[in-house]
Parts: sequence; C-alpha cells; structure tokens
Amino acid sequence: MKILDQPIAGGSAISYAGLLEKIEILRSALRWASRLDRPEIEKLLRQSSALRDEVMQLSHKERFVRAASSAEPVEPMERSGGERRRALLDRSFVFEGTFGDNPKLLEALEIAEKAAPTDLPVLVDGESGTGKELMAKVIHANGSRADKPYISVNCGAIPENLLESELFGHRKGAFTGAANDRKGKFESAHKGTIFLDEIGELPLAGQVKLLRVLQAHEIQRVGSDEIIHVDTRIVAATNKNLRKLIAEGSFREDLFYRLSVIQVTLPPLRERRDEIPLLISFFGDEAAEALKRTPVKMTPRLRDFLLNYPYPGNIRELRNLIYRLSCLGGDVADIVHLPDDIRPSAPARAAYDAIAGLDNGGFKLTSLSDAKRAASDEAERAFLERGLKEVGGTVAELARRCDMNRSHLQMLLKKHGIRSKDFRQHHGNADDKSKAH
Ligand SMILES: Nc1ncnc2c1ncn2[C@@H]1O[C@H](COP(=O)(O)OP(=O)(O)OP(=O)(O)O)[C@@H](O)[C@H]1O
Ligand SMILES: [Mg+2]
Repeated sequence: MKILDQPIAGGSAISYAGLLEKIEILRSALRWASRLDRPEIEKLLRQSSALRDEVMQLSHKERFVRAASSAEPVEPMERSGGERRRALLDRSFVFEGTFGDNPKLLEALEIAEKAAPTDLPVLVDGESGTGKELMAKVIHANGSRADKPYISVNCGAIPENLLESELFGHRKGAFTGAANDRKGKFESAHKGTIFLDEIGELPLAGQVKLLRVLQAHEIQRVGSDEIIHVDTRIVAATNKNLRKLIAEGSFREDLFYRLSVIQVTLPPLRERRDEIPLLISFFGDEAAEALKRTPVKMTPRLRDFLLNYPYPGNIRELRNLIYRLSCLGGDVADIVHLPDDIRPSAPARAAYDAIAGLDNGGFKLTSLSDAKRAASDEAERAFLERGLKEVGGTVAELARRCDMNRSHLQMLLKKHGIRSKDFRQHHGNADDKSKAH
C-alpha cells in the first residue's frame, strides 16, 4: 500500500484539492483491505497522523493569511509609518533588521507579510542596494519554512555554462569536469526557500527548466533523465527591467508571469530621503557595535554632505559609508574621511562650510546670522560664476540679462575675486570687446 509518500500539500499554495485526494486514497486503501496485519495498521496510523499534521499546517497557514489580510480594517495608507510598523510588530512580524517607516517600504513589508505564509513565488525588484536580498530573507523568516534551508544563488555571478548545473545539479560525466554526481541548489533548498538573485541573467535554457520547477515542482540534473521532485519556495530578484528583457527576447514572458505572481518593489533611497538621518544613526550604532567602539561623531559639514548626497548605491552605499566613517573617523569623522570619488571639491566644501555655519573646518558654530550671510555669499558667487559662463565672460551682457547695473556687477565680481576673462577663453569669445576689469 503506497500512499502519502509525497507531502500532501505538494509544496504549492494552500491546496484542499490535494488534501482531499490524499484522504480518498487512504479511504480506498482501507475499504479494499481484506485483512490488515499489525505492521499494516501501524503504517496506516502513521499516514493518518501525517495527514492530520498537514491539515493542521494548512489551516494554520490559512488563518495566518486571513489574519494578515483582515486584521487592520483601516486603509494602510491612511495610517502613519510608525503605526503600520507597530501593527506589523504586534502581529509578530520578523523584520530581519529592515529599518524605516517610508510608506513604500512598509507597503513592501505588508505584501511580504501576506505572501510569506503561502508558497507563491515572489519577484522582488528595485535598484541596486535597496534591500532585495534582505526582503527575500524577510519572506523566508515569516513563513512556515523559516526553520528549513534558505539558499541564495546569484544568477549573475556564475558563468553561464555552469549555471544550470549549479541550480539543478549534474550527473557524473555530464560535461568535462563533472567528476561526480552533484546535487544543485534546488535540491539543497528542498522544503525551504531558494533566492534567485539577478534572475534576468538566467540563460534561456535555464529559464525553461525553471518554468518546469514552477509548474510541476520537478527538476532534472544536467545529463540525467531522472525526474526529481522538489518542494522549494522561489523568491527571485532583479534590478533590471524584465519587461524590457522580454521585448529584447532574452527573458521568457511566461516565466515572468509565473515568477511575479506577487511582486514587491523596493523604493530607492532618494525617495525616502526624510529617513536618511535615522538611517545614519541606525547604521552608526550598528557599526559601533560591530567595530566595538562608541558611535562616531560627525562634523556638521559631513552631516550636511550625507544628508544631501544622492546615493546611487542606495542603502548599501549609505551603510558602507557609515561603516567607513566609523572606522576611519577617529572620534570625529569629517568630509576628508569620505572616499575620494565622492569627496566634494574645495569650492563645494566651502559651500558646505558656509551652510553648516562652520569656521573653516573647525567645529565652532558661528551665529545664525553669520551662517546665513556665508550661505548667501556662496550663492552670490555661484550665481556670478554660472552667469559669466553662460554669457562667455561678457560682463555687459550679464548685466543686461540680469537687469543689473554694470558697475554694481563689477563691484560684486571684485568682492569675490572673480575675473571675467577667465570665462572668456572657454567659450571662444576672444573677440569680445567688453572688458570687465
Ligand atoms: N531597509 C533597510 N534597513 C536596514 N538595512 C537595509 C535596508 N535595506 C537594505 N539594507 C542593507 O543594505 C545592504 C544592501 O541590501 P541588499 O543586499 O539586500 O540589497 P540588494 O537590493 O540585494 O542589492 P543588489 O541589487 O546590489 O544586490 C545590506 O547590508 C542590507 O542589510
Ligand atoms: Mg542583492
């Protein structure tokens, strides 16, 4: 009597049809048994217990989904970030260190909360460094597979010819160098979650195989005909536009739809700039703990830089910067401790000094009116320089365009030590007759 050898739910979404089928098999086994001996009875009892456990698990999952979707009658968007975060905490949501109250981030976490207890595939998208891998861990940690393996595969980091074998395993002799049978990441992630990072890099042949996993929960090792059942929850991530790849013919549309049953989009840091101060102190404390030191202090001009920097590398870049500053900054970190390629130039530094109300790189705060005057001087200088550049160094023209008195303009240029002729060479206006100085 061979029943219930496979998990009842088949690793897919909540499936009562699958359960009923298993119960029917069990019933017919009993109905047709002419005589049962002791081992047979024991086996049937074991199978009934397994069935009961699966029913319990499914009903738990279903309750979890229902609770997640109906616990809050208020529209999530109407509640503040803090309230939404607290509500998640009250529902024992595992954040895995995800920090922030930005509405888009919370929306992503709320979707993750609902998706986690199901086995539906999730596609996480967002720019580099926005926390896609972190989100995959959040989904794993909040589901029923939390104590099972979590396997992460970066499809972009494995050479194309090895990727299939890495994911699906291979049979001895399947290709040069395949000295032994080897199981792939899908088999390692059996019962758990597999995170397929940079899914857009998966070659087309691998995409076909992945489609099969999603449809039938089956894989074949490279070079083998044997079909292996895998029960693996798939979370994929991309920082590419998969629709564009589909249009270019390098990504299968059917796979995209299968993978993105649930899509979670993470906001770039520039859309959550109001959280930068909090993130700075969050990572400052984290770095201090990791480096076993007290949290680093920052000069006002460094803080100003960090609050205004565009962060193309998103949270990862901010986090790395804070770790770097915590390590190199001694007691007080300054702009000089920033990496060369993003450290502001001398004039920009002067502007930060002015805005931060600083006394030449020291830490002495001047009065508010001094700070304002310095900032206004800096704005005046930048305006004159930009204007002269635009008119190719012709003071008369600048005066005309700005509707200013020419001698007043010349006085201002003098005050800032700006020479109009420096702007002339660059613009090929050598024949200009107007002389500023
Ligand atoms: N909301 C957040 N709160 C705290 N830390 C975060 C958050 N988002 C990202 N991080 C941290 O930033 C770093 C980058 O995150 P992660 O590796 O998940 O980004 P990613 O989107 O996968 O980047 P990439 O596309 O470059 O692979 C990690 O150290 C992660 O812990
Ligand atoms: Mg990543």
